[in-house]
Amino acid sequence: MTTRHFDVLIRGAQVVDGTGSPAFDADVAIVGDRIAAVGDLAEATADRIIDARGLTLTPGFIDAHTHDDRLMLSDPEMTPKVSQGVTTIVGGNCGISLAPMPGAVPNPMTPPLDLLDDTGRWFKFATFADYLNRLRAEPAATNCAMLVGHTTLRVITMADVKRAATSDEIAAMRRHVEEALAAGAIGVSTGLAYPPAISAPTQEVIDVCRPLAEHGALYCTHMRDEGDRVADSLEETFLIGRELGVAVVISHHKVIGEKNYGRSVETLDLIRKAMQHQRVCLDCYPYAASSTILALHLARTCKRVTITWSRGMPQYAGADLAEVMAREGGTMEEVVARLLPAGAIYYRMDEPDVRRILAFDDTMIGSDGLPHDEKPHPRLWATFPRVLGHYGRGLGLFTFERAIHKMTGLTARNFGLTDRGEIREGAFADLVLLNRDTVAEGADYAHPIGPAIGIDTVLVNGRAVWMDGAVTGERPGLVLSH
Ligand code: ZN
Ligand code: CU
Repeated sequence: MTTRHFDVLIRGAQVVDGTGSPAFDADVAIVGDRIAAVGDLAEATADRIIDARGLTLTPGFIDAHTHDDRLMLSDPEMTPKVSQGVTTIVGGNCGISLAPMPGAVPNPMTPPLDLLDDTGRWFKFATFADYLNRLRAEPAATNCAMLVGHTTLRVITMADVKRAATSDEIAAMRRHVEEALAAGAIGVSTGLAYPPAISAPTQEVIDVCRPLAEHGALYCTHMRDEGDRVADSLEETFLIGRELGVAVVISHHKVIGEKNYGRSVETLDLIRKAMQHQRVCLDCYPYAASSTILALHLARTCKRVTITWSRGMPQYAGADLAEVMAREGGTMEEVVARLLPAGAIYYRMDEPDVRRILAFDDTMIGSDGLPHDEKPHPRLWATFPRVLGHYGRGLGLFTFERAIHKMTGLTARNFGLTDRGEIREGAFADLVLLNRDTVAEGADYAHPIGPAIGIDTVLVNGRAVWMDGAVTGERPGLVLSH
């Protein structure tokens, strides 16, 4: 027998392969950007050998829900992501995508598009193809799969977004969807809860999204209402999926508002039932507080609100709204007006709901992190290690293998990311070497920026992007489509 030679050989790891099956011990070999062999490779040689004894090797994590559209260009090393083991991000969520922007850039940028970039400088891609081509020419450290945002399309198409789109406007938006899908977008996202899209009737969404089916693309939604009318919103989402004949993704599934606490029993039941007739997916972040732009109507419904960034009064990033009001004086309405444009964290979920949704078998992990924010919600840096550490190892919400599946194999399958999310011969070498006994969040509400604990090495397409506690500077990320 001849000795096999590989580019990289990871020796003696415990392998958790992303399918949910039990861990096993194996060596894993890489040639180029793919896994070339898994098994006992004691006889093999390699250009580079990684001694993985005592560590666990998993597929790279796929962040099912991000707002990293601008981060990939402005900070392509993607430190908040690769430091926690993320190797692929799904971007363009909640109706908000950086492209297309064919005409004059709104000034000031229309909220919530400003949560990507409030200066407007990065909204510089006339077409979705321009944007993806830039990412192909100047890759980020992570792979990406991108959605085109319905809110972005409304803003570029309609003079007045406070009404339903006309048939001409719908046709124009549909052409943008066609262009984006042809360029490589994997679907459309909506943010029907946000002012620029709240006036869009269900039929508008269906008509704009018509091209999805023939491209095998998905519909992802920040639903119209995650509070009192969450059940109606789920029905609307299912209806859109059935009308279009496509898979739907319920983004950051949650139930908000005190009087709705506990209703995840009902929502998960509705989701489970719908899954029997159509393709329904969902993702969740592991926190009982949400985060988005600062808005008076949201602040009013919350006992506690923390400011994450502010153009009006930047000194208050990280402060609670109550503290700002005490220092500045005035009503909530006045103080919010002075802070704007701004972002905030809203403490408005029930911890048992969060756990129930996270533990649901079909729930994928998505951070919903907001890299634009000065003092971001800790989900940006800590989502994945928190699921593995706090919720998995600590509270025993799921086995380690299940938790890994929720952030790898399940997500790859739902988004149609071929040969990702699993460790097996022939799959792409997106890999995380970690210590499953110590992996834990390195960021929290008080200290929202910091790398995860216990993440040893992260590889994207066979190349190390995170090693020895730092980014390597490699940028092997690909634009993924299906
Ligand atoms: Zn959202
Ligand atoms: Cu989001």
